[in-house]
Amino acid sequence: MRKFLAKGVAVGAVALLALTACSSRSDSDSSGSTGSDKGFAADALIGVALPAKTSENWVLAGDLFTNGLKEAGFQADVQYAAASGTVADQQSQISAMVTKGAKVIVIGATDAAQLSTQVEQAKQAGAAVIAYDRLITNSKDVDYYVAYDNFKVGQLQGEALLKGMKEKKPNGPYTIELFAGSSDDNNSGVFFNGAMDVLKKEIDAGNVIVGSGQTDIKQVATDGWKAENAQRRMDTLLNGSYTNGKTLDGVLSPNDTLARAIITSVKGAGKPLPVVTGQDSEVESVKSIMAGEQYSTINKDTRTLVKQTIQMVKDLQGGKEPEVNDTKSYNNGVKVVPSFLLPPVIVTKTNAAEAYANDPKLSPLTK
Ligand code: BGC
Repeated sequence: MRKFLAKGVAVGAVALLALTACSSRSDSDSSGSTGSDKGFAADALIGVALPAKTSENWVLAGDLFTNGLKEAGFQADVQYAAASGTVADQQSQISAMVTKGAKVIVIGATDAAQLSTQVEQAKQAGAAVIAYDRLITNSKDVDYYVAYDNFKVGQLQGEALLKGMKEKKPNGPYTIELFAGSSDDNNSGVFFNGAMDVLKKEIDAGNVIVGSGQTDIKQVATDGWKAENAQRRMDTLLNGSYTNGKTLDGVLSPNDTLARAIITSVKGAGKPLPVVTGQDSEVESVKSIMAGEQYSTINKDTRTLVKQTIQMVKDLQGGKEPEVNDTKSYNNGVKVVPSFLLPPVIVTKTNAAEAYANDPKLSPLTK
């Protein structure tokens, strides 16, 4: 299994500081020299290469990029990697975008470490490369990273898990299981490290016990972010470590799709539901939270993330340096990629109405 890039436990703290610090925008030169020699045509082709539709956020992103880029006057080429054979698929999609003369290529990587050749091709052809939501590793040619602060996502998940268990059962120790995302997605390690930044001290102190003893990311990863893989592992865990009436108090799930698979498994086994975390604010999970089943999710509003990315594209078009607010946290193994990080929000039943007040799709579910 490929190694998760060590994003460093310090990343969250640094990112937090960076979010509150002044952003380093260098396009406000009063002389008016904004580097417009570096710009490109206002109707240029912009490529967007997205991974397979492993969660709702990717489906939303595709539509938002297609419409948003067109509205901004660009030509948009938005592609998804196929559900199987995704790496080769995405590699050839990016190469085709370069050949067609795209001026910016936005990439939500299927496999963080498998795109350096294509990203280099883009660079040599004069295109800028923006890593979207997932960092691209082992490449010096990634220009920018735009994402929610994914280490913070993990920390919020870890905190929610502890809080949810305490609400249900005031006194520990608590027995939990850990799940992580797909090992080819750089985010999986970042989420997991963020969560462990919160949970490890509780585990070390004996307040929290991992029932199966599986605490290594290699043991808890979910290949392809697939629901069936998480469900199968949960079935196995329940049959192995939770017989004889042993209670499972909580499950760290990295996203909503896997959370619902875990809940399905527990229900199938006829066991009481543990506290289960999530991420993405998927419709079915928001319903589950309101029904008191899934405990938490994360709001990483895709509309804001796409808007921020399109703003970067517009800046590049005008020959300006796009705004970033973090130049320390996201090292891709070759360089620290200048990033624009947005703050994720934890959502439980308690704050759902407030958190989704401006989301016409989710807000009615919280009434
Ligand atoms: C995204 C998550 C998503 C997961 C699976 C991650 O890279 O950040 O929001 O749940 O991919 O699609």
